[in-house]
Amino acid sequence: MDEKILNVFRKYPDQYISGEDLSEELGVSRTAIWKHIEELRKIGYIIEAEPHSGYKLVSAPDRLLSSEISAGLDTKIIGKNILSFDTVDSTMDVAYDFAVKGTGEGVCVFAEGQKKGRGRMNRDWQSPKHKGVYLSLILRPEISPNEISKITLMVAVSVAKTIRAKTGLSALIKWPNDILIDGRKVCGILTDMSAESDIVKFLVIGIGININSKIQDLPDSATSLREFFGEKVDRIDFTRALLEELDSHYLDFMQQGFGAILEEWRNFSATLGSRVKVDFKNRHIEGQAMDVDESGALLVRLDNGFIERILSGDVILAR
Ligand code: BTN
Repeated sequence: MDEKILNVFRKYPDQYISGEDLSEELGVSRTAIWKHIEELRKIGYIIEAEPHSGYKLVSAPDRLLSSEISAGLDTKIIGKNILSFDTVDSTMDVAYDFAVKGTGEGVCVFAEGQKKGRGRMNRDWQSPKHKGVYLSLILRPEISPNEISKITLMVAVSVAKTIRAKTGLSALIKWPNDILIDGRKVCGILTDMSAESDIVKFLVIGIGININSKIQDLPDSATSLREFFGEKVDRIDFTRALLEELDSHYLDFMQQGFGAILEEWRNFSATLGSRVKVDFKNRHIEGQAMDVDESGALLVRLDNGFIERILSGDVILAR
């Protein structure tokens, strides 16, 4: 019922709606309406009441509630089903468990905070509560395991575009998929995969974005959108835009392939043209980042002229 009341408010934004109209539209008593309004207020909705006019929704709470994200969300696959949690160990594990049980693609798992947020290369991901967007997304593309970097690059492009659209900040991508603002990391992407005989069964793509976090709550090289934007960023509005961006890029990828996405990735790249150092487990190389190829691999020209094709690794931009 709470959701139904909210939907009526959403249908008539910024308007007072009388208790009588609400009770008629929803087929419950005015006392029931009043009780539900009280419930909504308890979870942070600001609802004004005027004696002769009725109720008006002033604002929704700053919480990534699935109903708030879904309201007005215009996507075909991504976010058709949204699960929101308060605190979990890691949204990666929650989404992976759902995927193993057969949950369909496009399901998004959000948490307000994570106790054991995971990054690439076994690092931790700091997840201060109510400040970021911590999301794991289940996809089931019909691709082979050696193509998954195409998907992570596609996700990086979607995040960079959303940041640019919502804040005007010049977000860039450091290969393969760190999003930087002024050289500092604002978003990281992590991909877990389940595959069988050369075909991907499912991917769980984790996206962590520092939205309104204070920099003292983040690692040294990190920043948040708020830090550069100068004011609080609406996390729900941002999330909806991100899911729409992901949806349209994913559909493009399935229908037209990787070409257009790769072109966009190149335009947002902080890596290409720069001198880079790449650390592997037991080796280290240095050279000029030349390009990203059709499979998403980074091509680095070493000082001896040899071109090395890098599929995974930690890239440091040498300044
Ligand atoms: C990285 O840059 O190292 C990747 C960071 C990925 C963080 C996100 S937050 C949501 C999801 N849950 C996790 O535990 N990790 C990813």
